[in-house]
Amino acid sequence: SPVKNLQGLRITITAGPTREAIDPVRYISNHSSGKMGFALAQAAAAMGAEVTLISGPVQLTTPAGVTRIDVQSAEQMHQAALSAAVQSDIFIGCAAVADYRVAEIAADKLKKGAEAEMQLTLVKNPDIIAAVAALPQQRPFTVGFAAETRNVLEYARQKLLNKRLDMICANDVSASDRGFNSDDNALSVIWRGGELDLPKAPKQKLATQLITLISEHYKN
Ligand code: C5P
Repeated sequence: SPVKNLQGLRITITAGPTREAIDPVRYISNHSSGKMGFALAQAAAAMGAEVTLISGPVQLTTPAGVTRIDVQSAEQMHQAALSAAVQSDIFIGCAAVADYRVAEIAADKLKKGAEAEMQLTLVKNPDIIAAVAALPQQRPFTVGFAAETRNVLEYARQKLLNKRLDMICANDVSASDRGFNSDDNALSVIWRGGELDLPKAPKQKLATQLITLISEHYKN
């Protein structure tokens, strides 16, 4: 039977990609499947936590006992995340948020012109996890992810400090047998006082290990 030692703990998790509209029929997005975030939600709920899962568009079913909030864009995820974060003990940002959105979403479908090139102006999206970690009050214990293709640990350590996170989980997405879209992953978890490698395993197993590690650090 599942360990139920997280009762009373409120955990908010973001998962999946965001979708940034260009016009009524087109968008900019990425290859995030949402599997890691959903695995974390499943693990946390199975251990007795009260879980809110804020998800971009994914093809996954909601784990049992989890409250799911569906969003499309980074701005929508930002709003939902901040509302949930101030009522949470732990916030885990697992979503692959689009760094930029289209400056002005066209009201009508853009038509193909005579020109060989066209340009879109993009503007920066809010950094959701940095906003959560910067909350002056009701700031949850904040855990981020860093998907990198090179200098994985170095970039992750920088993000831990720059975004003022409590913990960051670094994964190498250059290998096709883990990370994006894969059922397996491997993580290096870093906090201010140390780090721990969680070797390649199915995302569901890693999720249980990670939720256990996070809840231990939250308590200290
Ligand atoms: O800077 P980078 O996108 O690599 O940081 C990844 C971490 O930051 C992840 O935890 C991701 O969910 C979070 N993030 C965010 N809002 C953004 C960009 C990233 O919450 N706009």
